[in-house]
Amino acid sequence: MTCAIDVNGVSFEYENFSLQNIYMELHVGEQKAIVGPNGSGKTTLFKIIMGLLEPKEGEVFVYDRMVNPENLWEMRQEVGFLFQNPDDQLFAPTVWEDVAFGPRNLGLSEDEVARRVDWALDTVGMCDFINRPVNQMSHGQAKRVALAGIIAMRPSILILDEPFTGLDFEMVTNMAEIVQDLREEGLSILFTTHNRFFIENWTDSMAVLDKGRIIFDGSPQEALSSPDLVDKIGNWEQLRRRIRASRTAQH
Ligand SMILES: Nc1ncnc2c1ncn2[C@@H]1O[C@H](COP(=O)(O)OP(=O)(O)OP(=O)(O)O)[C@@H](O)[C@H]1O
Ligand SMILES: [Mg+2]
Repeated sequence: MTCAIDVNGVSFEYENFSLQNIYMELHVGEQKAIVGPNGSGKTTLFKIIMGLLEPKEGEVFVYDRMVNPENLWEMRQEVGFLFQNPDDQLFAPTVWEDVAFGPRNLGLSEDEVARRVDWALDTVGMCDFINRPVNQMSHGQAKRVALAGIIAMRPSILILDEPFTGLDFEMVTNMAEIVQDLREEGLSILFTTHNRFFIENWTDSMAVLDKGRIIFDGSPQEALSSPDLVDKIGNWEQLRRRIRASRTAQH
C-alpha cells in the first residue's frame, strides 16, 4: 500500500536527547496520533519529516519519494505543517499577507491567490482579521491563521503539532470540524495530542513515543486497554481517585 508518509529507520541526536530507529507509516487517508510525554520527541520527529532537521540515519518517504534537500519545496506543497507554537509560523505584516505567502510561492496568479486566501480565512472564521498584524492576536486566533496559511496551499497531507492546545471549546469544535471536512476530501493527517478525548474519538491509529523510541503503534482501543500505555498517555481515572481520596481525607 502506498504510504502518505513512511519514516524508515530514522535516528537523530541532540546533545541530550536522541530519537532512535523510528519506523512509522501514515497511510493515505489515515488519521494518526503521535502521543507521548513532554520531551519524548514528537516535535523533533515532525521536524525531521518536514526536512527542518536532518536525520543521522534513515530516510523519510512522502508518497514513496525519498525527501532530500533538492525536493523539499515540492514535498512541502504536499505536506502542510502546523507548528506547535503559531508564533513560529506567522511572520508577514498582516494576516492576509501571511496566508497569501504560501500560495504566492506556488506561482499562482494574484486572482487565484486572493481566492485561496479568502477561502482559507473564511474556513477558519478569521475574515474579520485580514488587516490585523500577526503579532496582535490571541493564541487561538494565531493558530487559526496558521492553519489557514496551510490549507491555502491545498496540501494532501497535514501534520498538526498539538492543534487543539490552548483553544477554547468553540475553537476546538471549529478546528475539529475544519479538519474533518478536509479529511472527507481525502487528506491524510498526522497529529500530536495530550488529550485523551482526541485519542479516543479522532484517530484511526496511534503511535506512542517514549524517550525517543516508538513503544507502541496500533489502534487506540488496543493502547487504551494496556495499563502501561495508559500511564504514558494519561491515567485520568487514577488522578481522579487520588484527588478524591485526598479531598475526602481533608474533610
Ligand atoms: N533545539 C534543541 N536543542 C537541543 N535539544 C532540544 C532542542 N529542541 C528540543 N530538544 C530536546 O529534545 C527532546 C525532545 O523534544 P521535543 O520538542 O521533540 O518533545 P515533544 O515530545 O514534542 O514534547 P512536548 O510534548 O513538550 O511538545 C527534549 O528533551 C528537548 O529538551
Ligand atoms: Mg512538541
